[in-house]
Amino acid sequence: MSKSFYVTTPIYYVNGVPHVGSATTTLIVDAVIRYHKLRGEKTYFLTGTDEHAQKVADAAAKAGKTPQEFVDDISQRFVEAWKRLGAEYDRFIRTSEPQHKATTAEVFRRLQATGDIYQGTYEGWYSVADETFLRDSEVEDGKSKETGAKVERVTEINYYFRLSAYGDRLLAHIEANPDFLIPDTRRNEVIAFIKEGLRDVPVSRRNTGWGIPVPGDDSQVVYVWFDALINYLTASGWPSDGWEQLWPADAHLVGKEIYTRFHATLWPAMLMGLGLPLPGHVVGHGWWLVGGEKGSKSKGNIPAPQDVIDRIVKYSGAPVDMATDALRYYLLRDISFTGDAEFGFGQLAVRYNGELANNLGNLLNRALNMLHQYSAGIVPDRAAATASSEIVAAALHATAAVESALDGYNPGAALEAIAKFVAANNKAIDTAAPWKRAKEGNQEAIDQALYIALEALRVVSVLSAPFIPKAADEIRRQLGISAQPIRWSDASTWGLLAAGTQTLTASPVFPRYDAKKAAADEAAEAAPEKPAAQQVKKDTAIDTNLISIDDFAKVQLRIAEIKTAERVEGAKKLLRLTVDAGEGEPRQLVAGIAESYAPEDLPGRKVVIVANLQPATIRGVVSNGMIVAATDADGKAVLLAPDKPDLAPGSKIR
Ligand code: MSP
Repeated sequence: MSKSFYVTTPIYYVNGVPHVGSATTTLIVDAVIRYHKLRGEKTYFLTGTDEHAQKVADAAAKAGKTPQEFVDDISQRFVEAWKRLGAEYDRFIRTSEPQHKATTAEVFRRLQATGDIYQGTYEGWYSVADETFLRDSEVEDGKSKETGAKVERVTEINYYFRLSAYGDRLLAHIEANPDFLIPDTRRNEVIAFIKEGLRDVPVSRRNTGWGIPVPGDDSQVVYVWFDALINYLTASGWPSDGWEQLWPADAHLVGKEIYTRFHATLWPAMLMGLGLPLPGHVVGHGWWLVGGEKGSKSKGNIPAPQDVIDRIVKYSGAPVDMATDALRYYLLRDISFTGDAEFGFGQLAVRYNGELANNLGNLLNRALNMLHQYSAGIVPDRAAATASSEIVAAALHATAAVESALDGYNPGAALEAIAKFVAANNKAIDTAAPWKRAKEGNQEAIDQALYIALEALRVVSVLSAPFIPKAADEIRRQLGISAQPIRWSDASTWGLLAAGTQTLTASPVFPRYDAKKAAADEAAEAAPEKPAAQQVKKDTAIDTNLISIDDFAKVQLRIAEIKTAERVEGAKKLLRLTVDAGEGEPRQLVAGIAESYAPEDLPGRKVVIVANLQPATIRGVVSNGMIVAATDADGKAVLLAPDKPDLAPGSKIR
């Protein structure tokens, strides 16, 4: 039997309930696994809970429960949360299971037999919050220097693991397998950590009644990290027959705080000691920050996934399934692997409205609406005629980009490639302008434009299925192809959407999220007693949700020169502008400045534009970017101009 593609999440501590941080790692694995499943591979997705931590026993005592009662309850909350998020795991492992206890004892015995685990007394520091042993040099004023967590003095530790013997072998493995540690920044960190010199680590603690007893020595329990890491092996069934169908894992996905010390050093060394192959990749992602600090259950500053879903439902009217996919989209789109990312409803709204409601939703809506208007909703016979369209090349390009991003465990890059492909399609419809062709009576041109858009949407339904599975199904339902199962290989075959397919009338998959109302409600909730004047002032206050320099670098600000300006018919506030942004051809923008500037005063002025904004159609006019302006005391727009009047259009602003 062939080996399954096997990927794991960390097993989560059950001292608190699931939140969007733990959900993110679970969803990254879910997206990767779904992608491999769609490719027809045999897959295995492991997640679960880590139940023997000291902090779990402490939390149980605080709740007035026995540890077992407590972990049974919280573990179930993870099961439910992951189900609700659509995480299709194969096994939910719990470290309090008999099988895991037996495997842990077996690992302990084998490493004792080889001399890798030896007896020795330890006296030192332990941080319960981090469940980590610390050296004197790592402690200051009773706290861990690295995390600030409180430490306590511990004694009566009797067993060590000979980690110091594995430094050179670990470095050799990392060198020989350049993609073992992902991303590169973490690989460098690990190499530096190992080169500093590895020390033997304690692997037991005094038995206070909670944990897996050390085989043959009931006075001690196995140190919770040593126990926890073994879960990945337990799930394979090792050492019973058949374990090679799963082991080695293809990848372990983890957050950065448990990367270097545990998953990239201790765990591979334990496996080397057992003579077992190492996992293919250890992938580390950054944190969701909340107000610049790590979001964590102990601080209680990070929302539960369900709260976010409820909020999306409330402010968009989307059904729960689509709101769930919207949360999946945001978490997978914006989690950073090299740095951290700020979790915020503002940014969630930007992604939701910009990429799901506007870009994707709009493409589906307008393509289906026009198909119903011009062709009774029936897919035209144009596959062959459209095979040379630029969109076909773009589809292949997008597919390759999504594959390479997912092969590198980077869902954000995959979603970006999909969003670009969808935007290219919106642009292609604008250019083909079926509504104009209708006036000319050119049905062939209409058919071609609409076939391209609909077929592109079919491709998008495949590419986006690992991330937003329910929305992908809904797109296929509206396209009239829900009976056909999704296969990954269908993304790279143009023309599979059959002529004659009866489509459904369009209905918005992602209704717009009312970010203004959400923000207003939030402000009112935060400050119900404040007088109106103070609330207005809040508008000019600097948002304390700090962004990183990398976030800022995503915004491409450019100098542009206004070439033409005219009013948009029927819209009091809007001007249609063409500007020279140094790109060779002018670009069209819509700006809400008609109440502050007369169109005839604008040509020749230099302004600042956001050049990489997704195109949007405003009152039927496509806007490729946005002009930035200040607001004066009367609420009027004030354009910003460079200090040097002859500054070339296209100049970058940093
Ligand atoms: N039990 C250990 C892991 C043992 S694995 C053999 C543990 N558990 S935990 O409950 O603290 O979960 C940690 C994991 O949850 C992180 O590694 C990360 O995957 C996820 N996250 C927890 N907080 C997070 C953020 N604020 N942001 C992103 N991911 C977060 O450590």
